[in-house]
Amino acid sequence: VKDSLPIGVFDSGLGGLTVLEELRRALPREDFVYLGDVARLPYGTKSGNVVRRYAQRCVDFLLGQPVKAVIIACNTATAVALESVREQTQVPVYGVIHAGAFAGQEATSNGRILVLATESTVRSEAYLRAFHSLSDKNLVEQIACPLLVPLAEAGWFDHPITKEVIRTYLAQAKHKDYDTVVLGCTHYPLLLPSFRAVMGEEVRLVHSGAALARELEQELTRRSLVQSGGAPGKLRFFTTDPVSSHVPIVSTLFGSSVEFELVDL
Ligand code: DGL
Repeated sequence: VKDSLPIGVFDSGLGGLTVLEELRRALPREDFVYLGDVARLPYGTKSGNVVRRYAQRCVDFLLGQPVKAVIIACNTATAVALESVREQTQVPVYGVIHAGAFAGQEATSNGRILVLATESTVRSEAYLRAFHSLSDKNLVEQIACPLLVPLAEAGWFDHPITKEVIRTYLAQAKHKDYDTVVLGCTHYPLLLPSFRAVMGEEVRLVHSGAALARELEQELTRRSLVQSGGAPGKLRFFTTDPVSSHVPIVSTLFGSSVEFELVDL
């Protein structure tokens, strides 16, 4: 694999831009190709078989660019499709869940961890398995938070209704003594002001995308796939349905000058 090729990143929509932002910060000289499968969003309420099929199409598109590695920025697609995609792909494929669990494990002091994610991610128990593979001493509880994705899409990052929804979900936790919360969905880091307002400063919040960016930097360096020297990396954005750069997620993370190219998958 040539180290000068871009890194491919895909998500069910635009939430994965939170992951891309972290990747860019960790690997500023890399070129990235981002694909947001907005036409099929949400993945988080769909069955494993359907999400695996969608994910494979996204990966095939990225491989056609071509790319030197594929990042599954979507927690749901990582949860249900990482293994099947890896089996069919020649370049390295990375998901966000293992990195998120690793960062959660590093962050916790009392071993009590709460994972917030989509319904499909929760159902897959991928985070539970990832935490278990790291330690058998943790108590990990999961809560599905389907209403948070549309609130992030609407740009209600710091909004009384978002705070109330978060409060209502957290009230479902059986164990209230968690010291670490994993934001196991691409959209949730955007809601950070609301999470902080509800939970205070004490609870540690883990962003799986940021954890992956750190892991990836080390991994690509080890595989000698990192670009050394040269200009800042370039970005290309593709979506499966037209997107305006004025939607809140895009303008907040990348400004309004981003251009999306349309693809039909
Ligand atoms: N990208 C998805 C995830 O991280 C959230 C949006 C969706 O349900 O498709 O799980």
